[in-house]
Amino acid sequence: MRVLGIETTCDETAAAVVRLRPEGGGEILSNEVMSQIAEHAAYGGVVPEIAARAHVDYLDRLIVRALSHAGIDLDAVDAIAGAAGPGLIGGVIVGLTTAKALALAARKPFIAVNHLEGHALTARLTDNLDFPYLLLLVSGGHTQLVAVRDVGEYRRLGSTVDDAVGEAFDKVAKMLGLGYPGGPVVEREALKGNARRFDFPRPMLGRSKPDFSFSGLKTAVRLDAERAMPLTNADIADLCASFQAAVVDTLIDRLRAGLRRFVNEIGPCRAVVVAGGVAANGAIRRALTRFCGEGGMRLVVPPPELCTDNGAMIAWAGLERLRLGLTDDLTFPARPRWPLDADGEAAHHGKA
Ligand code: KG4
Ligand code: ZN
Repeated sequence: MRVLGIETTCDETAAAVVRLRPEGGGEILSNEVMSQIAEHAAYGGVVPEIAARAHVDYLDRLIVRALSHAGIDLDAVDAIAGAAGPGLIGGVIVGLTTAKALALAARKPFIAVNHLEGHALTARLTDNLDFPYLLLLVSGGHTQLVAVRDVGEYRRLGSTVDDAVGEAFDKVAKMLGLGYPGGPVVEREALKGNARRFDFPRPMLGRSKPDFSFSGLKTAVRLDAERAMPLTNADIADLCASFQAAVVDTLIDRLRAGLRRFVNEIGPCRAVVVAGGVAANGAIRRALTRFCGEGGMRLVVPPPELCTDNGAMIAWAGLERLRLGLTDDLTFPARPRWPLDADGEAAHHGKA
């Protein structure tokens, strides 16, 4: 079984071919990604219109490359999966329409994949992980804790009430003049800094509902940065280190709250999966490793190229759905908002 997957919901244009291994788990036959970071860098964030145009420019070539690197042509795939949201609507329409057109032309089943489901199921592609498990999704657009019970059975335990954690990294980097994307630079600066110099808030600490909030933390960084003006290199490093320490504490505390809910509502949790670009952060990884080790849980962090947005995760989620006979028709709409929990599932089948 082989599926072609197409991803265009944010600022990566991506196409990939994934195959099901006979023994379970998946094999990536090709995984082509074209990052648009350079095109958005001047604006300090993703510009939706620029993203949509770039998807149009790159996507057809990427699909050709994905097929040729997989050593197959379109006839040899069993289905075509396209991310139908959530994301920037212009970009979603580009990828979704392309996936539908290919499915129609090649007479193949079409599968509309929820981008978040792609992140949620990646650990099964890479590690053949069994259900259920707890997903911590930390990217530039999303910050949520999701109980993954089965394909199509997700329960969002908590999510951010304001900024995503990656967005907080990006905004802090921007206010300190460090460029975009912010995560990697802030992490680098933090290595040189004193994490105890600034006493930043740990938003939501101790709350039982595993939600997140980062906008107060971001504001606290801004106020202390303004007070310390003009900033020396040491100030910048200390601000980054103190900010990152607050993020780490917050993520672990919120994960602990999510885990409590998981155990109460679903049962023992044997594995925690982390996905999203922020999972590349070394300090966050180390804290998660320690936390899961102490709790006797397995921590699965897919390799960086599969943590950030990519086509393989869409192809794999499509394959998991195809296996269960879950295909979609060509009227499936692009969804700028599309939650992953029960209501979202109803929406998948046109009931909401
Ligand atoms: O998953 P992703 O590639 O794209 C989406 O947002 O969907 O995540 C990108 C985000 C950006 O906000 C970026 O600043 C953040 O991930 N990021 C990091 C690191 N590398 C990337 N955040 C913290 N530390 C990092 N090393
Ligand atoms: Zn994503």
